[in-house]
Amino acid sequence: MDMNIVVVSNFDSMSEEVAKIVIAQIRRKPSSVLGLATGSSPLGVYSLLEEYHNRGVDFSKIITFNLDEYVGLAGDHPQSYRYYMEQNLFARVNIKPEKTHIPNGIAQDLQEECRSYDETIRQVGGIDLQLLGIGSNAHIGFNEPGTPFGTTTHVVDLTESTIRDNARFFASRSEVPTQALSMGIKSIMHAQNIVLMANGGSKADAIFAALRGPVTPEVPASVLQLHPSVTVVVDQAAGSKL
Ligand code: F6R
Repeated sequence: MDMNIVVVSNFDSMSEEVAKIVIAQIRRKPSSVLGLATGSSPLGVYSLLEEYHNRGVDFSKIITFNLDEYVGLAGDHPQSYRYYMEQNLFARVNIKPEKTHIPNGIAQDLQEECRSYDETIRQVGGIDLQLLGIGSNAHIGFNEPGTPFGTTTHVVDLTESTIRDNARFFASRSEVPTQALSMGIKSIMHAQNIVLMANGGSKADAIFAALRGPVTPEVPASVLQLHPSVTVVVDQAAGSKL
């Protein structure tokens, strides 16, 4: 309802805007619970957080929960989201390893892993600030079009096109994950504050549909219109249809 939309010139200014929001949250509450995303959109934010840390911002009380992970990849696999987070953020700030959470893609019981992931978020009092990227089909996390809004953390069957897109990162087709674990739409909507970021013209239709179109599971990010505290930070290309 109360969506704050910030349009900036490019990727760097998007990253600065979002990093400022994260740092303000950490200063307000040093033990903040942050929801984190992977992908290309937050990379600039993470390198700015490292810079803030080098200038004295303390991450030792911060708790994090990532949106998603591939099924079947251990944390030391270079394509796992755990590995991405270690490389791009966790190893670069003084966050405590035991305070970082990412769904365990090699858990024996995936259903139980999903259930306990939501339970752990609840136990720490919920997410204070959730960062989100958006897919060109308006997915958030791995919640693809058609995912019911009521979904909690769940096992997702990846689409053929996603599997094909991912194949280039793996030695052989048989190594490409066919499933992922993802926080659900409902888990995401429980966060107190949400920041959605997007850059580039390939996101323009998704951003328009999410912010200006009808609220429908066919456009997963459109659910954010129902959240009381969302900030959208887009560059001019991604915001060009608004
Ligand atoms: C990542 C995630 C995805 C991405 C989205 C955008 O953890 O959950 O929903 O945020 O696919 O990806 P990029 O930023 O690479 O365009």
